[in-house]
Amino acid sequence: MKSRKLVYEGKSKILYEGPEPGTLVQYFKDDTTALDATKKAVLEGKGVLNNRISEYLMTKLTDIGVPNHFMRRLNMREQLIREVEIIPLEVVVRNIAAGSLSKRLGIEEGTTLPRSIIEFFLKDDKLHDPMVTEEHITAFQWAAPQEIDEMVASAIRINDFLSGLFLGLGIRLVDVKLEFGRLWENDMMRVILADEISPDSMRLWDVRTNEKMDKDRFRKDLGGVMEAYSEVAKRLGILNELQNNERKGPVLVK
Ligand code: C5P
Repeated sequence: MKSRKLVYEGKSKILYEGPEPGTLVQYFKDDTTALDATKKAVLEGKGVLNNRISEYLMTKLTDIGVPNHFMRRLNMREQLIREVEIIPLEVVVRNIAAGSLSKRLGIEEGTTLPRSIIEFFLKDDKLHDPMVTEEHITAFQWAAPQEIDEMVASAIRINDFLSGLFLGLGIRLVDVKLEFGRLWENDMMRVILADEISPDSMRLWDVRTNEKMDKDRFRKDLGGVMEAYSEVAKRLGILNELQNNERKGPVLVK
């Protein structure tokens, strides 16, 4: 097999050169990190689930007209994506207080916020992804004012859509982290959603029990990480298909 050119290796994903110019192959690893990568583990099958969950959610977003980098799934761990110039920001939308917001502002985890709140963080591991304001973003030219407007408008739509989708499945969307990139088409540039949307990048709580169904299970050593990710996939209606594809042994035909 012809070896592919590695473009970038991150903590949980690898990007390879794609088959056409302007495309990349995004590979989902089982590696999981938290606390600035000081906590690490390999969770068998996580990459397969996140590939499938992200495919499902990105496809739904395409259906409602939210532009994103997803083109198609290639196999259990890989998807074909459009190559974009990543804007070095994490855009977090919060509906319920949790995580760094609770810590920073002393707001009890689980408090419903008076309205959805958007925060920006600079993507820089060495600096521990510090929170930044629009002032910093424009002054240091990480993004232009119009790009910020586009990211905010898109983030609000995505959050509203995902909140409704998950609520229908008995899951509360507590918060979600989004990343955006610049897509060049001839001389035109637009900002589109990139990266992934998965339980690695969202907080999801069961409506009935408030059980965490996301990466906080790993961060907080709650156990049952893969069971929780599988439950999310199951409620989205994509787990049966996965199980069928993963069946390795002979299948009894009745
Ligand atoms: O830690 P914090 O409360 O700021 O996280 C907000 C949201 O962003 C959570 O859903 C978390 O999973 C996600 N996040 C992420 N990648 C990071 C930091 C946070 O996906 N590097």
